[in-house]
Amino acid sequence: MFDQASSLRELMRNVQKDNTLIAPNIKFQPKIPTVLAISGGKGGVGKTLTTANLGLCMARMGMRTLLIDGDFGLANLDVVLNLRPQFTLDDVLCGERHLKDIIMTGAEGVRIIPSSSGVMRVPELDKLQKLMLLDQIESLDEEFDVVLIDTPAGVSKNVQYWTSSSAEVIMVVTPEPTSLADCYASIKILSQTTAENSFKLIVNMVKNDIEAKKIYDKISTLSDEYLQVRVEYLGYIPFDESVRNSVRERTPYVQRYPFSAASQGLRDISRQIITQGTVGQLKGTMQFFWRKMVAANSPDIIGYK
Ligand SMILES: Nc1ncnc2c1ncn2[C@@H]1O[C@H](COP(=O)(O)OP(=O)(O)OP(=O)(O)O)[C@@H](O)[C@H]1O
Ligand SMILES: [Mg+2]
Repeated sequence: MFDQASSLRELMRNVQKDNTLIAPNIKFQPKIPTVLAISGGKGGVGKTLTTANLGLCMARMGMRTLLIDGDFGLANLDVVLNLRPQFTLDDVLCGERHLKDIIMTGAEGVRIIPSSSGVMRVPELDKLQKLMLLDQIESLDEEFDVVLIDTPAGVSKNVQYWTSSSAEVIMVVTPEPTSLADCYASIKILSQTTAENSFKLIVNMVKNDIEAKKIYDKISTLSDEYLQVRVEYLGYIPFDESVRNSVRERTPYVQRYPFSAASQGLRDISRQIITQGTVGQLKGTMQFFWRKMVAANSPDIIGYK
């Protein structure tokens, strides 16, 4: 664990000044990856695009990165990454494939576990499926430094499962009042159902950092005052037409438009995640194991019923 933290600090020393390319060939020796869930409450706030582009940034930083599409039934991480999966998590959950057999490789060597779209064989995970999935993800531990999970909108049991299986929950929020309200409501519900008392925040589709900070202040003040939950600021992604163009072109914007304002914002966020020390901390590395222990003793905590 400490080796990993020092490797990350070493990595940060090698980030180039122009912020565009980060030293390749940095060798990490971690044993267990840090798992980060990307959530947000409201639909369409940018969770999937943030997961995909953050994954590419981290992979480019030399981190062995795994992306999981946790949005069963309405998956689209594969679309954003221009992949055409033959098998998906649906096949794993139905016992027809092992997780290892469905992993795909995208740009920058990022690895992806796709989900299915338009198929609802597994609308909500049962207890056995939850444990089996955690076991199979854990079997990949030594292969990855970081795992990013794209969660669906809302606060369903599946969202609770993913967020409680993660070291950190990153909330994505936009300036729309409905997004702010849903983000706060989600923090409230997730903190109550999963006992998570600390969240990270990315503000998406804003004009500038002043607008982003105002939104962060509102959410963190409310969460602190009424929920006793800490919210930390990771950064912002400006509203940027190149994001929409990149979706149409089925190429992540950090790859297609590396010098766009959105790409710059995302790179700053990646650096912030690393410098805040989330990756490589004990909390992250122990999380899956810890959750399983808790789940075994307290069936309700991640919807084990
Ligand atoms: N920074 C941005 N600038 C401009 N448009 C953006 C930005 N971020 C996201 N969008 C737009 O928002 C749309 C929705 O993004 P995305 O699919 O990532 O949201 P989501 O939260 O995953 O949605 P869902 O809840 O349906 O899973 C994108 O197709 C894109 O057009
Ligand atoms: Mg999505």
